[in-house]
Amino acid sequence: MKILVTGGLGYIGSHTVVELINNNHQVIIVDNLINSNLEVLNKINKITANNPIFYEIDVTNEEKLEPVFREQKIDGVIHFAGLKAVGESVLKPLDYYYNNVLSTIVLARICVKYKVNKFVFSSSATVYGDQPSPLREDMELMKTTNPYGETKAISERILTDTNYANKDFAVSLLRYFNPIGAHGSGLIGENPKGIPNNLMPYITKVASGVLEKLKIYGNDYDTVDGTGVRDYIHVVDLAKGHVKAIENLHSGVNIYNLGTGRGTSVLELVNTFIKINNINVPYEIVERRQGDIATCYADPSKAEKELGWTATMGIEDMVRDAWRFERNNI
Ligand code: NAD
Ligand code: UFG
Repeated sequence: MKILVTGGLGYIGSHTVVELINNNHQVIIVDNLINSNLEVLNKINKITANNPIFYEIDVTNEEKLEPVFREQKIDGVIHFAGLKAVGESVLKPLDYYYNNVLSTIVLARICVKYKVNKFVFSSSATVYGDQPSPLREDMELMKTTNPYGETKAISERILTDTNYANKDFAVSLLRYFNPIGAHGSGLIGENPKGIPNNLMPYITKVASGVLEKLKIYGNDYDTVDGTGVRDYIHVVDLAKGHVKAIENLHSGVNIYNLGTGRGTSVLELVNTFIKINNINVPYEIVERRQGDIATCYADPSKAEKELGWTATMGIEDMVRDAWRFERNNI
């Protein structure tokens, strides 16, 4: 298939582009580089010996995006482009609603116009809110706790309504749990600008000495050791899930959890990182972070049953690959 990938130079997008090429798909990337850089295109080329077509375009710009669909015969889209920092979304809600919701509307409008009937969307486990894990796709969605999460819930609704009105327009809503790790080549990975918000990039920055100490947000949750529990998934496993999702997308609105089904606490992740990489990560326990929940992990059985997809890598692979990428990019 010829697949247009928005946000294809970002963290998850770049890994997915590699897996799409590995599976003989032709890839067109659209990215405005707001949270990535062109160097990633060279890295994709190094890994795959393939040069995907690249357009530097903002997906919210319908006038600029539409000609891409006129020029290329596109079979399907995977929509990663979006802003993703939860804390920033509270401070800049309009930027988040504008970018994340409008990009979904614009892309879906053009897809309907050009009869591009496969649409895969990057959603998030955050749409479940604070419900007991394991989380299943048929659970009702709870009120989201920040503008970022709301942009995902709204985008899911927009795409569902678009399918209702255009039955040929097939949608896959992929709810990611916590992607970490990096490509085995060490060439692409997560490289956030500024101080990281998420746990894994913070750990690697502390291990490399860029940041002094990890702050663990609370050790009084009702979990195995009191620290927060999440379903960490290797980004390459996640990328492979997208290949399966678009290859198996035929009709309707299809919702899938992409997670491992296993919960890992903050302390377990930090200690595994220390042990596998043989490097120290100084940390201190501080107050809980506002908005955090104790436990969040997936029931991933629907994706296994319907897509034939299951995560294959464990926490040890994730911490090893994250650290390799960090060392290559210090
Ligand atoms: P990322 O920031 O690394 O990648 C997003 C890419 O989209 C970047 O390259 C950025 O430059 C681009 N972009 C943003 N707005 C754009 C626009 N209007 N037009 C064109 N390009 C634009 O983030 P990521 O971690 O790879 O996340 C990809 C998607 O997955 C996002 O939609 C994110 O919300 C979602 N998601 C991420 C996580 C996670 O933990 N990383 C979890 C759940 C969902
Ligand atoms: N944590 C720390 N210290 C840090 C950062 C995080 O202790 O410096 C803890 C958090 O309290 C939490 C766990 O590590 O218990 C994971 O936190 P992350 O910030 O890495 O991830 P979240 O689960 O909070 O959120 C992530 C994405 C969201 C997405 C959500 C569900 O950032 O966009 O997963 O998919 F919605």
